[in-house]
Amino acid sequence: MSDQTIEHQVQTLNAELETRLQEIKTADDVNNIRVAYLGRKGKIADLFKVMATLSPEHRRDAGQAVNMFKAKVQSAIDQKKASLSDQDRSNQFFDISLPGHRGLLGHHHPLTLVLREIKSCFSRMGFTIAQGPEVELDYYNFEALNIPKIHPSRDMQDTFYISDDIVLRTHTSPVQVRTMENQSPPVRIIAPGRCFRRDTPDATHSPMFQQVEGLYVDEGVTFADLKGVILTFARTMFGSDMKIRFRPGFFPFTEPSAEYDFSCVMCRGKGCRICKGTGWIEISGAGMVNPKVFEYVNYDPEKYTGYAFGMGVERIAMLIYQIHDIRLFYENDIRFLNQF
Ligand code: FA5
Repeated sequence: MSDQTIEHQVQTLNAELETRLQEIKTADDVNNIRVAYLGRKGKIADLFKVMATLSPEHRRDAGQAVNMFKAKVQSAIDQKKASLSDQDRSNQFFDISLPGHRGLLGHHHPLTLVLREIKSCFSRMGFTIAQGPEVELDYYNFEALNIPKIHPSRDMQDTFYISDDIVLRTHTSPVQVRTMENQSPPVRIIAPGRCFRRDTPDATHSPMFQQVEGLYVDEGVTFADLKGVILTFARTMFGSDMKIRFRPGFFPFTEPSAEYDFSCVMCRGKGCRICKGTGWIEISGAGMVNPKVFEYVNYDPEKYTGYAFGMGVERIAMLIYQIHDIRLFYENDIRFLNQF
């Protein structure tokens, strides 16, 4: 076979290619042409095989002709592919009047919303916000709150111990001590934060939960002040017809101590399934700061008195939103969270 023959073959293949290009209708047609011309056993591969048998001087010219043809086939295939996909797009039907896809908007967790309301209520009554560590010294969590190591009241709060002296705080009361250590009276703070207890999860208990602690210390602070502030809180959060009541209680760091209840938010005190017919819902504990705690922070118990109270944020949120299982707050089920 001479180099003339190769050039002639290229011309013939070129003419044939032009015809085939005009007949293309689908992507399959394009692919068939690619395989026929550029494939491993295709027409151009055949030309290269013939070229290998030519003398070097003839091979150069023939090579140029074959390479130019190969480039032309490649570019014709690319063009056809592009025009077919353009056609594809213009064949699709778009309804431009349809609404777009709205992006998902995040929002605040129900506990964040309730905590904000609690903070805002107390800040309007003159309380500032104090904070303390979640990994706490045994000293602040127990000892300085008048709960020595052998004291049986430690059993009231089943504790996660990190070491003999370090615990995950079981309540926010240690922030009382830390604040009084660093500040002279008057002290008027709330301390919101996470607490941890080895409680088995159920509808009303979670091993991690949030409390808000309250503390007011000054000259002449009385139990009546405590009642006033709790009543204002109850009415701000649940409505002006709310009633509160105090029952005797026991906490080593308050004396006297009390448990306080709100009139039932469902039946407004008439008695229902939620309040088990009593008309009251138990909220939390409170009392007058025990003079023994004042001794730990070098406050003069002859000069100063104070009240302290605590409350569980989840329990307040459950009452506000009428949620019957505390675990819902921590399961992160988007169907639950989307309702707030
Ligand atoms: C205390 O933790 C005291 N520090 C409160 C206090 C502060 C009393 C200041 C006096 C003066 P108690 O263990 O009762 O008290 O817990 C207070 C509230 O925390 C409970 O009423 C409840 O609402 C919430 N709470 C306690 N344990 C859990 C738990 N496992 N899951 C959810 N909430 C809890």
